[in-house]
Amino acid sequence: MASTKRILITGGAGFIGSHVVRYFVNAAPHYQIINLDALTYAGNLENLKDIQDKPNYTFVKGDICDAALVNAIFQEHAIDAVIHLAAESHVDRSISNPLAFVQTNVMGTATLLNAARSAWHGNYDGKLFYHVSTDEVYGSLGETGFFYETTAYDPRSPYSASKAASDHLVMAFYHTYHMPVVISNCSNNYGPNHFPEKLIPLSINNIIQNKPLPIYGKGENVRDWLYVIDHASAIFTIFEKGRIGETYNIGGHNEWKNIDLIHLLCKIMDKKLNREAGSSEKLITYVTDRAGHDLRYAIDATKLKDELGWMPSLQFEEGLEKTVDWYLENQEWLNHVTSGSYASYYETQYHNR
Ligand code: NAD
Ligand code: DAU
Repeated sequence: MASTKRILITGGAGFIGSHVVRYFVNAAPHYQIINLDALTYAGNLENLKDIQDKPNYTFVKGDICDAALVNAIFQEHAIDAVIHLAAESHVDRSISNPLAFVQTNVMGTATLLNAARSAWHGNYDGKLFYHVSTDEVYGSLGETGFFYETTAYDPRSPYSASKAASDHLVMAFYHTYHMPVVISNCSNNYGPNHFPEKLIPLSINNIIQNKPLPIYGKGENVRDWLYVIDHASAIFTIFEKGRIGETYNIGGHNEWKNIDLIHLLCKIMDKKLNREAGSSEKLITYVTDRAGHDLRYAIDATKLKDELGWMPSLQFEEGLEKTVDWYLENQEWLNHVTSGSYASYYETQYHNR
């Protein structure tokens, strides 16, 4: 019989976190999932409606920086493992408010690690601290080359610097206290429940509303896109089979220049919305570039494939169509998350750009 584990997942009401929570709750009924999330602007319990009443799922609202709360959760739920996703995740917000990123991503991670250290007290049998990180810690590539697990860290935005710091803290707890840890560094995700501050969902929302599509600089920056449920399945694989103390890169071998991606999205949306071919492309608007804009990310995920047998399941065109369908069928979700503070965020971020 599969062994029981009580797993604390942080940030489980966010974009990737909600897919990870769902994946674990459904794939592993013998695991108890405790989801700790502060429900910031990016966290939304609507993302988890379909699993909220499952017997192996519990939600706790709270901040990962609150040491008393985090310690109490470890005690009350006898936590065996942590899958840590809670973070401030948007590069543009890190440029306007870097300290919020240091607080959540660095102090929050340190708080969780320290709580695990004191709860597990050197008895690490069956324990695991799994830290979910990003390929942005490796910096920016030129026209060629890939990020490997051995690539030196070279973060260039306050967001990526704070994630790099959190990765270093995780490895410091491994080396210093022998805490069993694993880290994965993933490329850009896309899919359902993605908050419309990021390129793909923002563009889908703007096309629906016939609003300009803001493309930073010349649109020549390259990102390597992975469907979010493939990321969740990779996290499950690494959680089950990954080697302690290791880092695994996760990616889709799916590089797109921003402008090419937006052209493809426009074509898909014209069809789905029964609009004349070419009408969404007219919304494309080149705007001032992001400060310190990384040119290119590209992940080499050979280690994950060769060691643990993980591969992405979806081709990009198929994933993008599924994503568009989800947004068109869930406009109420889109309306909820774009009400309130979204309008003032959008105004500050894009006005006069
Ligand atoms: P997100 O912004 O959609 O969600 C973050 C979640 O964390 C939200 O639910 C939010 O409420 C919660 N949160 C924020 N601060 C918190 C705090 N102090 N205490 C408790 N909860 C808090 O982020 P995402 O895009 O789903 O990213 C999740 C993780 O994956 C992050 O660690 C991010 O660095 C990493 N990652 C993201 C991508 C991507 O493409 N989005 C790629 C690779 C890695
Ligand atoms: O690589 C993984 C990272 O991917 C994650 O760690 C981050 O949490 C996640 O937000 C994402 O970072 P990016 O900065 O790559 O994603 P974003 O969607 O913000 O931007 C994608 C590209 O599109 C980037 O080159 C900037 C550009 N862009 C973005 C926005 C929001 C535009 O041209 N216009 C826009 O309005």
